[in-house]
Amino acid sequence: MRTCWLNGSFVPEDEAHVSIFDRGLLFGDGVYEVAAVFQGRLLDADRHLVRLERSLRELAMPSPYTAAAWLEVMQALATQNRIDEGLVYLQVTRGAAERDFAFPAAIKPTAFAYARSKRLSDDPAAAGLTVHVVPDIRWGRCDIKSTAMLAQVLAKQAAREAGAAEALMHEDGVVTEGGSSNIWIAQDGALHTRPLSSDILAGITRDVVIEVARELNIPVVERAFTVDQAIAADECFLTSATSFVLPITRIDAAVVGNGAPGPITQRIRDGYLARAARLTGDSAALSRSA
Ligand code: PDD
Repeated sequence: MRTCWLNGSFVPEDEAHVSIFDRGLLFGDGVYEVAAVFQGRLLDADRHLVRLERSLRELAMPSPYTAAAWLEVMQALATQNRIDEGLVYLQVTRGAAERDFAFPAAIKPTAFAYARSKRLSDDPAAAGLTVHVVPDIRWGRCDIKSTAMLAQVLAKQAAREAGAAEALMHEDGVVTEGGSSNIWIAQDGALHTRPLSSDILAGITRDVVIEVARELNIPVVERAFTVDQAIAADECFLTSATSFVLPITRIDAAVVGNGAPGPITQRIRDGYLARAARLTGDSAALSRSA
């Protein structure tokens, strides 16, 4: 059975319970992070923890653990559960209290985390996936990685019913992001992605891909684009911690490019994987020599 972590203790999954009065459950009053595990090691977890701190701060929630404490818990979950490739999920809620919309005084946050396996380096979706276009009906603070995600739940269910792997969300025809990913196009040799604002999540993978593109001398333009421009683009792809870089080869019925993963997408995915191998390989070597 899987070992999870709840409020400071490692517990078997069937003993990891929270109160029915938890505000995460009652109001979606919580934040979360998802970091990849690659070669058994955490990938960019430090950056995810910086974003966690920001999400907590924006919602005036105290930060219950230091980044160092989180890193230890996250790596222990990956190791104890023998995750070679996969992810660690962590969540912090405002805690349990009598139901009241405004923050109760003196409330203790709830914190938990778990790990699971997922194919990353040989994700079958690397052969190309379909996205389904839906209107973005979310709130005005999509930069906060909040657990209140009904709009994405409905978007991704609509995608699944349409036979697509991910939702492509738009506002008045302009792409915001994926249901749980950032969206990119390649046009005339350059990458385009929406600039950061409260309309989208500042993806950690998005940041890393900008760095990888720079190393590969591929220009990056942070500019919004429409669904029609994505359909007409040379290439289209998505990024997230648990997908890395995946080619979008169809947008509903429309074929992107020639319908196969494009060469720039492939270079970015390969560059991303090479960096991941370098980082996790290095840290494994460091811990062996410690
Ligand atoms: N989601 N945009 C949204 C709305 C997301 O939920 C995510 C990640 C991203 C990509 O961010 P990052 O590169 O930091 O993973 C963009 C995670 C993976 C999830 O909810 O499972």
